[in-house]
Amino acid sequence: MEKRLFSGIQPSGDIHLGNYLGALKNWVALTKEYDSIFSVVDYHAITIPYDPSVMQQKILDAVAVCIAAGLDPNNCTLFIQSTVPEHTELAWILGTVTRMGDLERMTQYKQKSQQFNQNINLGLFAYPVLQAADIVIYKAEAVPVGEDQVQHIELTREIVRKFNATFGDTFPEPQAVLGKARRILGLDGQAKMSKSMGNTISLTEPAQVIQMKLNKAVTDPARIRRTDPGNPEICNIFSLHQYFSSEDEINHISFECRRAGIGCIDCKKILGEHIIAELSPINETYQTMRHDHDYLRQILETGSQRCRTIAQETMATVREKIGLR
Ligand code: TYM
Repeated sequence: MEKRLFSGIQPSGDIHLGNYLGALKNWVALTKEYDSIFSVVDYHAITIPYDPSVMQQKILDAVAVCIAAGLDPNNCTLFIQSTVPEHTELAWILGTVTRMGDLERMTQYKQKSQQFNQNINLGLFAYPVLQAADIVIYKAEAVPVGEDQVQHIELTREIVRKFNATFGDTFPEPQAVLGKARRILGLDGQAKMSKSMGNTISLTEPAQVIQMKLNKAVTDPARIRRTDPGNPEICNIFSLHQYFSSEDEINHISFECRRAGIGCIDCKKILGEHIIAELSPINETYQTMRHDHDYLRQILETGSQRCRTIAQETMATVREKIGLR
């Protein structure tokens, strides 16, 4: 039987290059090898401040971008997390085998509770437990994510070990699967590219905006004048070239940058052209598909039905094992 894969994305803002390079591109590639399930995780998105009036739009945006970026609904299952309520039921149960101390150590929780310190809520604290439930309810073995999520997958493994040891073998221990792009920095060249940091290029940005944002992006901080030789290894623009440019181009840029043969503006122009060439077809498909609500809703309904069947089966076993039925 094909091994199963699960991953999720929050509908909390425009999907950006970090999501695309760190997760989405890998998802598309892995659908060839795995029975793949992807979820728009709306229950996770409500753990930080959000606007309920645009939530449905953002969910459909996320689904349309995922498909436009290459996820083929005929080759994978796509659904909205909250349409399979068993996720939250299992999260409650897994919460009883999760140590508070482990949750307190989670980097994402520490960052988010600092960033949104007016509402440090239980949902934010228990976020990784719901994430564990998302994965194990489908007995998924592979979880393709960016580096920032590895700690949550490690915790999922810990929760699985504790559950299996307490109630008998039930879930496999899932593995995080990382691609070439583990952590994409934002245009500030400092923090992780992230919706909440305002340092992103979104996949659906117009071409001129992409180039304009790149033109303002931080490069090698030590290179002040055009005539200064640069250090590609500490330049975020150079690191982005790794994902969009050919090996020859990368070698050429590295060589010329080091001897001040090429300036940051030209280097950004080359990168911009490549990014735009890759994103334009995605954006075009997105723009047409986004308005086809019937098509998107039908994909999501099919996905949700399949997931509910699997999730209900798992929950029947879980309830029996923990002595509730
Ligand atoms: P989200 O929406 O924050 O991120 C979605 C995916 O994008 C990756 N990512 C990045 N990768 C590299 N560089 C970046 N700058 C960058 N920014 C984001 C994330 O690692 C993630 O893979 N908690 C998950 C959502 C989730 C989930 C799950 C994932 C909920 N349940 C179960 C896997 C399995 C998240 O961070 O979503």
